[in-house]
Amino acid sequence: MSIEITKSYRAYKKSPYKSIKHSSYFPVYDHLFCPYIGKEITFVEIGILGGGSLFMWREFFGESARIIGIDLNPEAKRWEKEGFEIYIGSQSDPHFWEYFKNEVGNIDIVLDDGGHTFEQQIITVENILPNIKDTGLIVVEDTHSSYMSEFGGPSSHSFVEYAKNIVDGINFRFGQFSKKRHEKSVYSVTFLESFVVFNINRELSAIESHPTNNEGIDLNISHGNAGTVTLQKKLPSLFKQIKKVRILKSALANIYGKISKTTIYKYAKNLNLRKYFKY
Ligand SMILES: C[S@@+](CC[C@H](N)C(=O)[O-])C[C@H]1O[C@@H](n2cnc3c(N)ncnc32)[C@H](O)[C@@H]1O
Repeated sequence: MSIEITKSYRAYKKSPYKSIKHSSYFPVYDHLFCPYIGKEITFVEIGILGGGSLFMWREFFGESARIIGIDLNPEAKRWEKEGFEIYIGSQSDPHFWEYFKNEVGNIDIVLDDGGHTFEQQIITVENILPNIKDTGLIVVEDTHSSYMSEFGGPSSHSFVEYAKNIVDGINFRFGQFSKKRHEKSVYSVTFLESFVVFNINRELSAIESHPTNNEGIDLNISHGNAGTVTLQKKLPSLFKQIKKVRILKSALANIYGKISKTTIYKYAKNLNLRKYFKY
């Protein structure tokens, strides 16, 4: 596919000021942002010093969009005279976010193209999330930093690992799990090359998860349980030898039941799946 056909690339090329972006980003921008074109949205970009991307987004979204820029460098204030709202502060400073949220209110899209450290990215998501509207997005760019040694990657506390943890929180919404810890605002997370997207929707996230029944004819077909490894399967030869000795059999079942609950057992059971984890 030629990136030249994307709306975002055309807007990028029209910007009068310098911006440097990777070629693979333009289809991502179109995929994520086209539904918002021409609408009265509030779009916030973190990292705007050169100004090129501010003009790009105004061209892309149209005049109805409120385009807000954030940068650490006070020189970015120069873009105010071009009609953009500019805030100076650090994305890793929760006090800055408090001030910013009070000033700006609710937001449709945040695009983080700031400093790309794990701390900056994580603090940004944590602080801006309450102000993102339902159906809004938090888009974190250049997430390849999670794999780069100069940013401290790979690490169990990288930004991508943080995003995977949000996926855990989404799955903890499942009805059978304790409701002590589950994600209440992020409906889904999208992983793309160099991007993580948090799709915000509190209403959908709040849907109670419980079994339902369509009251159709029940053929009583056993569902089985492909994930259960039975005692007989695990210890067949031993069982053949002792199957007539009832007491021994029940004692063995008891021991096996205890073993199968241990972490070591669960780890060993899934070792054969290791080969499917390619990266
Ligand atoms: C990659 S550039 C942004 C490029 C711009 N988005 C574009 O496409 O033309 C990164 C910007 O992030 C800003 N920045 C770095 N650390 C920051 C922080 N902690 N808070 C806010 N902005 C930061 C830098 O001053 C710089 O302007």
